[in-house]
Amino acid sequence: MGIEQARIINLRKMSDPKGNLTPIEGGDDIPFEIRRVYYTYDIPGGETRGWHAHVHLQQFIIATSGSFDVVLDDGKGRASFFLNRSYYGLYVPPMMWRDLANFSSGSVCLVLASDHYNEADYIRDYEDFLGAVRRQG
Ligand code: TYD
Repeated sequence: MGIEQARIINLRKMSDPKGNLTPIEGGDDIPFEIRRVYYTYDIPGGETRGWHAHVHLQQFIIATSGSFDVVLDDGKGRASFFLNRSYYGLYVPPMMWRDLANFSSGSVCLVLASDHYNEADYIRDYEDFLGAVRRQG
């Protein structure tokens, strides 16, 4: 899988004067079944997170509040995505080095994941990541 598999996916928006609603159904609105949800919050403005890749995990990242950049790197090329709305998100396929940067203060980053937390699925060293990409051909 390469960086061209990463993409913004627009979600449905149920507009209502009382407040909008966006549903996400695993395997339907996004290309995997959801096995875990987590979110980061109270992030200091301008902070950077991420700095790792996952061997098998697929993720879908939404800025449910505020904004931030997601920079993806498949070992051959890079792409940057600006997230700032609750009605779209970024599909992140496996084997993508990711940096999440430029968090606005008060932002909330919601992540839907295809599997439970497993530290063995992480690659936390960039040189190790490039080696794994080379071995995959
Ligand atoms: P990490 O994935 O490195 O965070 P980020 O990429 O957003 O900077 O995780 C930070 C810490 O939280 C790390 O000690 C592992 C732990 N963690 C869990 O226990 N469960 C989870 O689902 C996640 C995502 C992280």
